[in-house]
Amino acid sequence: SYQSFIDLKPIVQSSQHILIFTGAGVSAESGIATFRDALTGLWAQNDPQQLATPEGFLDDPARVWGWYQWRRQQLLACQPNAAHRAIAALAERGLQVTVVTQNVDDLHERAGSREVVHLHGSLLETCCFDCAAPADVPVAQVPLDGAAIAPPACEQCGGLLRPGVVWFGEMLPQDAWSAALAAADGCDLVLVVGTSGLVYPAAQIPQLAWESGATVVHVNTDPVPVAAEREYCLVGPAGEVLPALLSG
Ligand code: APR
Ligand code: ZN
Repeated sequence: SYQSFIDLKPIVQSSQHILIFTGAGVSAESGIATFRDALTGLWAQNDPQQLATPEGFLDDPARVWGWYQWRRQQLLACQPNAAHRAIAALAERGLQVTVVTQNVDDLHERAGSREVVHLHGSLLETCCFDCAAPADVPVAQVPLDGAAIAPPACEQCGGLLRPGVVWFGEMLPQDAWSAALAAADGCDLVLVVGTSGLVYPAAQIPQLAWESGATVVHVNTDPVPVAAEREYCLVGPAGEVLPALLSG
């Protein structure tokens, strides 16, 4: 049912372990495009098959590498927003808080959240497509525009470097997935913030938490259909709803 945050504050205050599950919507007010918002979404302007699959990378490594280096550079100019800060402040109040994000930005970390579980990797990481060796590639100094750039060669095997993000059809990092499962099992409240819930297996995490008896609170600018008891939706921008919901 659609609530006001006032009704749900007691649930937050009586929780022992809160799982904060975030998607692109939590970073929208920081100026980072989401994927599926109409008009502004990255997948409204680009083809995920070409830019977010291993096949797309092999088909045109320079197109993919250039696009991610541009997104990475864009990220440096963005700041965490009030939602990221409210989440980081919650953990400072002695509550057990686990942040599990689908996002590849570092805004949770830059807002002060520790141990952020990245189910889909990170824009700041680079590895080798062939041997998976991690590589340290600095952010380009010249302003990028998303145009194609040939990826550097791996120093270990000579293969192609790629962004350290999880593409469609790829396995999630095992340690991240295990940590997310443990949090879903152990939490008593999960806040599902700014995600369309369309991409699996990540989208399973809030469902598993609900099945383990947790209360689920969606925070989304769009109303999310709430199907069951112990499930609520707060409609509004995360940067406004979360500070109100999570403040002491
Ligand atoms: N506050 C809260 N929610 C918002 C805001 C905001 N300011 N702005 C947008 N939203 C909501 C949208 O209504 C939508 O439900 O955030 C959600 C964004 O959904 P997507 O763009 O699909 O992003 P996400 O759910 O994170 O995508 C999941 O898809 O492309 C893959 O790997 C990529 O991790 C990504 C995954
Ligand atoms: Zn290699």
